[in-house]
Amino acid sequence: MPEETHAREGIPLPVRRSEDGKAVLLLDQTLLPTEERYLRLESLDEVAEAISSLRVRGAPAIGITAAFGLATATRRRVETHPEPVDITVLRSAFQSDSRQLRRTRPTAVNLPWALDRMESVFESAESGPVPALARALEDEADRIAGEDREMCRRIGLHGRELIPEDGAGILTHCNAGALATGGMGTALAPVYTAHKMGIPIRLFAGETRPLLQGARLTAWEAQRAGVEVEVLTDSMAPALMAQGRVDLVIVGADRVAANGDVANKIGTYGVAVSARHHGIPFYVALPRSTFDPAALSGAQIPIEFRDPMEVRGGRDKSTVPEGAGVWNPAFDVTPSHLVTAFITDGGVLRPPYEPAIADLLGAGGGKGPHGGVDLEEGP
Ligand code: MRU
Repeated sequence: MPEETHAREGIPLPVRRSEDGKAVLLLDQTLLPTEERYLRLESLDEVAEAISSLRVRGAPAIGITAAFGLATATRRRVETHPEPVDITVLRSAFQSDSRQLRRTRPTAVNLPWALDRMESVFESAESGPVPALARALEDEADRIAGEDREMCRRIGLHGRELIPEDGAGILTHCNAGALATGGMGTALAPVYTAHKMGIPIRLFAGETRPLLQGARLTAWEAQRAGVEVEVLTDSMAPALMAQGRVDLVIVGADRVAANGDVANKIGTYGVAVSARHHGIPFYVALPRSTFDPAALSGAQIPIEFRDPMEVRGGRDKSTVPEGAGVWNPAFDVTPSHLVTAFITDGGVLRPPYEPAIADLLGAGGGKGPHGGVDLEEGP
């Protein structure tokens, strides 16, 4: 697939559907950077486990995986059940699968967004022939992935305009690159686009405690794309800024509220505070599927808390004394007043954010049929 490789800077897709439509093929990101292994997931439980345990992660990639999970589970049921397939049984199994996936990770809004779209397609197609229903679900899952890829491309073009032509030091946090999306990434899309144009970029990747998405994943894929990258521990970011080595910050998002408050990987808030202190622009890059107009502010965004063992460092080499508590939120909320601009597939949004976001999403939430993204116009 040469075109795909080109658009993704030679970085493998985090997730896709198998040729026979019965399995989800998933790059196990917990093994990176040392091992590049695809898993063949043939049950809904395996797909749910892969999302919960961060074998696939990043808001858009989670949504795409869930959509493929529902499509493949339905295809397996349709092909293994004796004819005629009972639509009531099929519907009840589909709804139960969707509920199970919805519970896997609470913060990234792309997950319920993709599941809502799949449910809406099921409802529209369930009165027709069963093979057509299975195909409609596959088509919708492919559309979700394809739209994301196109939105990333547009984010890259819009964000590139914010990068000085003579080069820049760019700090990012966590991984909001190709491994987190169906395309070239969100935060990293402007980086890759600028790099391809010959603009010299020095990328700084915050390591992202406790699961090290910055060190393991961002550094890995940036190298693949030929971008010069340096890893720092999260606590080093303010010192790097004080040295004048960071010209701008670009991060991704898991959910952005109607007022512009941003939920993203834990540590993002600290980077934003530090950027403001040093007078450095702090940009948030995201597709429109990551806005949640139903959340009026960051206070209404559910924050995922994860197993304290992630911070303790495991049973064999614990770094925290027994008996000491551990606080392990996976995300934090950066208030909108610390955001210099949002880089979206529909352009760069500047304050005041509430009207700018409402305008981008439009009356129908910027959505086409089944809540899909209307990408008719654009660069
Ligand atoms: O816990 P993760 O690895 O799923 O967290 C990912 C992030 O915080 C990303 O910045 C965000 O999902 C945007 S990915 C384009």
